[in-house]
Amino acid sequence: MDKLLITGGNRLEGDVRISGAKNSALPLLAATLLASTPITLSNVPHLQDVTTLIQLLGRMGVTVSINEKCDVEVNANTLSTPIAPYELVKTMRASIFVLGPLLARFGEAQVSLPGGCAIGSRPVDQHLKGLAALGAEITVEKGYVHARRHGRLQGARFVFDMVTVGGTENVLMAAALAEGRTILENAAREPEIVDLANMLTAMGAKIEGAGTDTIIIDGVESLSGCHYSVCPDRIETGSYLAAAAMTGGRVRATHTDPKPLDAVLLKFLEMGAKVQTGPDWIEVDMEGRRPRSVSFRTVAHPGFPTDMQAQFMAILAVAEGTGTIMETIFENRFMHVPELNRMGAGIQVDGHLAVVRGVEKLSGAPVMATDLRASMSLVLAALAAEGDTLIDRIYHIDRGYERVEEKLAQLGAKIRRVSNRGGA
Ligand code: UD1
Repeated sequence: MDKLLITGGNRLEGDVRISGAKNSALPLLAATLLASTPITLSNVPHLQDVTTLIQLLGRMGVTVSINEKCDVEVNANTLSTPIAPYELVKTMRASIFVLGPLLARFGEAQVSLPGGCAIGSRPVDQHLKGLAALGAEITVEKGYVHARRHGRLQGARFVFDMVTVGGTENVLMAAALAEGRTILENAAREPEIVDLANMLTAMGAKIEGAGTDTIIIDGVESLSGCHYSVCPDRIETGSYLAAAAMTGGRVRATHTDPKPLDAVLLKFLEMGAKVQTGPDWIEVDMEGRRPRSVSFRTVAHPGFPTDMQAQFMAILAVAEGTGTIMETIFENRFMHVPELNRMGAGIQVDGHLAVVRGVEKLSGAPVMATDLRASMSLVLAALAAEGDTLIDRIYHIDRGYERVEEKLAQLGAKIRRVSNRGGA
């Protein structure tokens, strides 16, 4: 199993090119199932989760190929079996995204229930309720969701019980092919939903209000192929900017979009960083200073994203003063705390609240990654720590950060991937 060996202490400086968003690429790949002619996706990040979804499409008989420009071409007409098996779904919860499109286009779907995951129980009840509201017959047997429709799905008004990104995406995709008008209320407003709505629109769907909490979809009989480019990854962007704040350095993230990062950029400013933006770049310059502590709570977009919580906790661990973090989205998303504390951080957790007392220096230690964003918080901590940190279980980071060690090394980090076979 690969590990990352990081020697801390270098100030990170330079430009980093941001990849396409994982959380957009996954629903977009699922949405290709809806099209009756092939779709070409560009700016698809090369990540384990994307590979898993492509494997899942392949397992269902869908033809997926990569062209010379590294674009992904998907032809869903060759689908032979609308089943997402447990072996693949258990490795990636986002496999549930295929449920809505399979049901809407092919009339039935069997998708293994994702089950629990490291950051909480994460049920999919809202996905199922939303599809049932469109007239689907849904049963759960032997760990699989079976969804069927008799005739076309029927447009309906549906109010989500809570704001769910994946739930909104799944029902939006199904509603695109339903008969009549669907109104989704209390919908998630994340930029990845807007990206999905934009691609569906390019395929011929009629959607209004994506990016607000009410999305109106007028269903169409069929959707066709298109060429679509995945939006930039706002969480990868924020993570590299955090590396600048963490090390007193200066990082410019390029090929990205500053707009969805407002809440995060305001926190960098509050920490005392100089923040500059252009149409497709953002620069955070800490000018050699130690960041000042800040407090925040994670909320749905456009508030501070839960996917940036762990990285900001790492910054707070070395900041001047004490800050508090309230995690309101997931029930068990502080698993990085014991690992950061092993590196000398002063973090106390009480339920959903973490109190972080900044220390002058962290010290390198062997640590273990527990989930995707938690692993980035350990990488950030290691970059600022004295001495060597060996991070185990980094397959978590490979699920969501493309070529992470290469990008950090370009910014001046001393980072190396080691494998057990290498003996380190
Ligand atoms: C997506 C993102 C993830 C991010 C999260 C919140 C992808 C692939 N992943 O995950 O990186 O951290 O949004 O911004 O896009 N819930 C229910 N029932 C449901 C659905 C959700 O109770 O049917 C709960 C979840 O347990 C959680 C909350 O709602 O507590 C938000 O989850 P949701 O927005 O659905 O997250 P994901 O789409 O899984």
